[in-house]
Amino acid sequence: MKKIFSAKILILALGILIIAGSCAPKELGQASGTVTKQLFGKLPDSSVADIYTLINHSGVTLKVTNYGGRITSLLVPDKTGKPGDIVLGFDSLSGYLANNPYFGAIVGRYGNRIAKGKFEIDGNQYTLVQNNGVNALHGGIKGFDKVIWKCEDFKTEKSVGIKLSYLSQDGEEGYPGNLNSVVTYTLTDDNQLIFEYSATSDKSTPINLTQHSYFNLAGQGDIKGHEVMIAASKYTVVDNTLIPTGELRDVKGTPFDFTAVKTIGQDLAATGGTPLGFDHNYVLNTKKIKDLAVRVVEPISGRIMEVYTDQPGVQFYTGNFLDGTLTGKNANVYKQHSGFCFETQHFPDSPNHPDFPTAILKPGETYHTTTIYKFSAR
Ligand code: GLA
Repeated sequence: MKKIFSAKILILALGILIIAGSCAPKELGQASGTVTKQLFGKLPDSSVADIYTLINHSGVTLKVTNYGGRITSLLVPDKTGKPGDIVLGFDSLSGYLANNPYFGAIVGRYGNRIAKGKFEIDGNQYTLVQNNGVNALHGGIKGFDKVIWKCEDFKTEKSVGIKLSYLSQDGEEGYPGNLNSVVTYTLTDDNQLIFEYSATSDKSTPINLTQHSYFNLAGQGDIKGHEVMIAASKYTVVDNTLIPTGELRDVKGTPFDFTAVKTIGQDLAATGGTPLGFDHNYVLNTKKIKDLAVRVVEPISGRIMEVYTDQPGVQFYTGNFLDGTLTGKNANVYKQHSGFCFETQHFPDSPNHPDFPTAILKPGETYHTTTIYKFSAR
């Protein structure tokens, strides 16, 4: 009897130990979410593009391809907890290989425009490929949005991510120096998407890396009802080719004032550009990554996006050039104002404006910048 009793106790104790073991808290450093990699497709030159799916523990799923570091899908819960895809893009690689305006891409070597594709560093004149009228835009014909990045995934206790790297050769698209760039995308369990850019070069070069995702927090339709705040008292005035004149103008009393919350639609018509809409570099009042630079609320879904950055500017672009000729995921036709971008950056054409914050990386220095997009719903 005693033996049976003690055997029973032993079995019970073993059972408890097994159950306790399987429910034991995760070890420190153990990953919280998941990252999986699949084939996305082949490029015409036979190189292979992969697609990474990152899932955190709070209902957010991010898909990124190493072709241009493009974010192809970002599922974020609305105020009822229902996930919706809040970025413009395509289901397949062919959509990205065809002509499209930088959907989801890493932009570089120099995001935004350089006047006539010309600049001078230390007495040396450089000429870039002119791919936007007479100007150079977003790194040239084959910019960082169209190259295959080396990619490694990683997990930490409270995040999942990928690390993308690309060596841009001396002379690529006209830029000087072999430039080694590393961009990490980290998706945290508190729904922050953190972009960290770093780079080194063996010759002085302009650099301005950014992210060109188009957002629509409602998932479809136009973005005019989105409510926006931008912490910027000034913007860079541009000529009719979107090159800064050098003037930093007060937003106060102009359609460009988003210091107090207003909808994108409210003053859209008053911007007066051709095509119509916002496509302006805001001079941020914020100085540190902790300061809120931009807040966007979509009142129906309740989704909120906040932008934090250490960069001096942000290009607010309202998809003015979208004209209904592209059809993306879920049969969404991308018409004018179907999406907005907040491209954190140095000011456009900085290499030709000595009074703008410098965007020249010198040999021996390391370029480093961080931008965070933070998502929530209420
Ligand atoms: C940037 C520019 C726009 C436009 C888009 C791509 O945001 O500022 O003028 O070129 O890229 O269409």
